Amino acid sequence: MDVIVYGHPTLRKKAVPVEAFDAELQAFVEEMSVTMVEKDGVGLAAPQVDRAVRLFVIDATQGERPPLVFINPELTWFSDEKEDYEEGCLSIPEIRLNVNRPVQVTVKALDINGKPFTVEKAQGLLARAIQHEYDHLEGIMFVDRVSPVQRQLVNGKLKRMAKGQKNKKAA
Ligand code: NI
Repeated sequence: MDVIVYGHPTLRKKAVPVEAFDAELQAFVEEMSVTMVEKDGVGLAAPQVDRAVRLFVIDATQGERPPLVFINPELTWFSDEKEDYEEGCLSIPEIRLNVNRPVQVTVKALDINGKPFTVEKAQGLLARAIQHEYDHLEGIMFVDRVSPVQRQLVNGKLKRMAKGQKNKKAA
């Protein structure tokens, strides 16, 4: 699967809920998981493969088990404690910046069969990835959440990235 890059309009859409838990969804999630592992990502959200539906996969253990699948997720609790952590994104190559986010988060979601599950007080890389991937479903990218000074430093790069995206479309 191709991962779309900063400047592509799908990355700015609010994704719609998944409705059908069928073989097509299974195949799609499987393909997303393979793509994430191939590209060495910690997580991948459906809008990043140009499909604006509410689902993402996360591999916070770096390949030790099948990736976690979150469908129609809701973030229901955040810790008051926040921290800076350097984030990157497969849709924003070569840029890594500190983002300040809650240290822990609780997420409710559906699994691949449509069965509800909850991850209570996720922490560490998993909590970070859940929040980053959830943002993709809202059309938010991590560079939107950095300080104005940090944003200033990468604005040129981002503009070139978005321009490259447009040229690709015109070609
Ligand atoms: Ni991302």
